[in-house]
Amino acid sequence: MIPDYDITAQALRSRLSPSGLDHSFRVAETAAMLAGVYDVDVSKARFAGLVHDWCKDIPGQELVRLAEDAGLPVDDVDRAVPYLLHGPVASVVLASEFPDLPHDVLAAVADHTYGSADIDELGMIVYIADTIEPGRTHSGVEQLRGEVGEISLPQLFERTYAASLQHLVERRTRIHPATIATWNSRIAGECR
Ligand SMILES: [Fe+2]
Ligand SMILES: [Fe+2]
Repeated sequence: MIPDYDITAQALRSRLSPSGLDHSFRVAETAAMLAGVYDVDVSKARFAGLVHDWCKDIPGQELVRLAEDAGLPVDDVDRAVPYLLHGPVASVVLASEFPDLPHDVLAAVADHTYGSADIDELGMIVYIADTIEPGRTHSGVEQLRGEVGEISLPQLFERTYAASLQHLVERRTRIHPATIATWNSRIAGECR
């Protein structure tokens, strides 16, 4: 069962900065739009978009502790850059706060930072929505927005993921092994 959007949005106000809150609302609406275009459950997509950054404002060391307590994998990159754990940790926290939340919504939240080899359509939608919501201004985002509905959802996800990887390299940011594993899984079979 999907929890009430407005009540959950109210709860989110005490968890995120005003800019983080606005971003979450934009991701929710973008995810709902994408779900409509690609024939995925719109209410699940909107809710997953709303709560995807549920744990984004938790300090890094606390994220590491929560991840370890939950038995999530934590490696050296996570300890150096704990920020990316806010996806997997949020899925654990949300599962305890909303026991009836469907598994695919939790998986979409968990997968929005690293992706995953078995990411499903809802997960792709939240990942893409997080990247192309109207507040994003990075180079290439207009092109991705223009491809919505023009190419398949997996193709759009791959192009969005590739653009994210490119930005990580350009900013000389550490790339998490799970991010590389997701990319490799997407292009497996292309024999490169
Ligand atoms: Fe996030
Ligand atoms: Fe986000």
